[in-house]
Amino acid sequence: MQVFGVDIGGTGIKGAPVDIDEGTLAAPRFRLPTPQPAQPAAITKTVAEVVAHFGWTGPVGAAFPTVIKGGVARTAANIDPSWVGTDVAATLGSVLPGGVVVINDADAAGVAEMAFGAGRDVGGVVVMTTFGTGIGTAVFLHGQLVPNTELGHLEIGGHDAETKASEAAREREDLSWEKWAKRVTRYLSALEALLWPDLIIIGGGASRKADRFLDRLEVGTKIVPAQLQNEAGIVGAALFAGASDQTRPKVTARSPRRRPPATRPPGGRRP
Ligand code: BGC
Repeated sequence: MQVFGVDIGGTGIKGAPVDIDEGTLAAPRFRLPTPQPAQPAAITKTVAEVVAHFGWTGPVGAAFPTVIKGGVARTAANIDPSWVGTDVAATLGSVLPGGVVVINDADAAGVAEMAFGAGRDVGGVVVMTTFGTGIGTAVFLHGQLVPNTELGHLEIGGHDAETKASEAAREREDLSWEKWAKRVTRYLSALEALLWPDLIIIGGGASRKADRFLDRLEVGTKIVPAQLQNEAGIVGAALFAGASDQTRPKVTARSPRRRPPATRPPGGRRP
């Protein structure tokens, strides 16, 4: 089965139809730059263009760089603040007739890695970290996502961690790989001390250059690069949309709830 995945980031909006049984792109992805300012109307138009590029009219999963609760954006670190309180699912849905399901971008990447990449069949606590415009995190226990963890904003040395250790910070400050790896080590050590994960998966734009810095990270936890690399967000958004499509509770089809029979023993008290 195919579902369209679109990954809405601080710098680019990229999408492709995804074979959700295989976890692979069914066609090469198409990318457009994120419009600036990244406000709802402009983003919605660009998402529609990316989807229309493939002539796609079916279901869509969208990865979005904010906390998403019930389809609504609750934060806006690297996207226009006018998104806060906006129903992202309804807004994008207005141009996507096949329906859309929205998930935090790091959660989407994590879902893809757990199903088809570096986290496949890994139990215990797995943390996916994405290093890109910001730092995103996805936390899993025995493969089950704890959604909307925002551990990229841990305060380290008086700073929001992502302002110092994201891929964008490395580029902005023109840091050497060595210097940046030191910052990432400090960040991952803080994560380690709080969560004691069994595995850390490094994803996001930086994962394409894993050979430049992975060996320089000095943390106790096993660290691996994301296998789906920069496509994890697209694949994960599609997987999430496909899964929720099949498992979404159909309230109207449910039989009415019956009260459980009373178990009180005659004349006695409930145990
Ligand atoms: C946002 C997260 C997002 C991450 C990666 C952070 O600034 O708060 O929601 O997952 O960036 O895009």
